[in-house]
Amino acid sequence: MKTNNQHDVDRRPFIVGVGGTATAGSSTEQALKLALKAAQSAGAKIQLFGGEFLAQLPHYLTPASVGCPAGQQLIEAIRNADGIILASPGYHGTISGLVKNAIDYVEETAKDSRAYFDGIPVGLIATAYGWQATTSTIATLRSIVHALRGWPTPLGAAINTSGGIFREGACSDAAASRQLELVGQQVAELAHLRLSAPQLLQAVSN
Ligand SMILES: Cc1cc2nc3c(=O)[nH]c(=O)nc-3n(C[C@H](O)[C@H](O)[C@H](O)COP(=O)(O)O)c2cc1C
Repeated sequence: MKTNNQHDVDRRPFIVGVGGTATAGSSTEQALKLALKAAQSAGAKIQLFGGEFLAQLPHYLTPASVGCPAGQQLIEAIRNADGIILASPGYHGTISGLVKNAIDYVEETAKDSRAYFDGIPVGLIATAYGWQATTSTIATLRSIVHALRGWPTPLGAAINTSGGIFREGACSDAAASRQLELVGQQVAELAHLRLSAPQLLQAVSN
């Protein structure tokens, strides 16, 4: 008979990706999908909340947002997630309103037994049309993850999209491609470690 712990050891980690832009086929969403694919190859189950989804989420706390099905769907996935990957474009040097609005919905988990991203790995991806905004956007994403009690992965993917490196779901820049792969792998591996040895990680979470 399996114990609860054994059940967790056997369970595939569930990784939720949130990101993209309002532009269909955005490079940000393509980058996120590549990282999610790497997480999947590392054994995770994945779910994407991409640009189209984020664009129809009402502004958090407006009357339209209260109990809205899209918001509920996002929060339900976050509640069940063993790891998260966030991907934002650098807009005016920081994260976009679209991505921040989705993150604001995480406030709904504030009173959960596992509040926010408490103790779970969070991979970060920032895209921009130059280097400067990639790093400032990654830094902002990392600050948000700290505020939400998550564990940013060691590598954050800072992707300069000015060379048009994303086409039809593939990335032509080997270094960028490797970064995205590593972010996905790190989230999946940390999530797996957390499921298989929760007692080890509990000590450092508290
Ligand atoms: C409103 C807006 C603000 C932007 N601000 C910056 C910026 O400050 N620095 C930068 O390098 N790129 C900036 N960009 C470019 C995006 O970061 C870049 O296109 C990014 O890779 C998103 O592309 P995507 O929609 O294909 O994902 C901005 C784009 C928009 C629409």
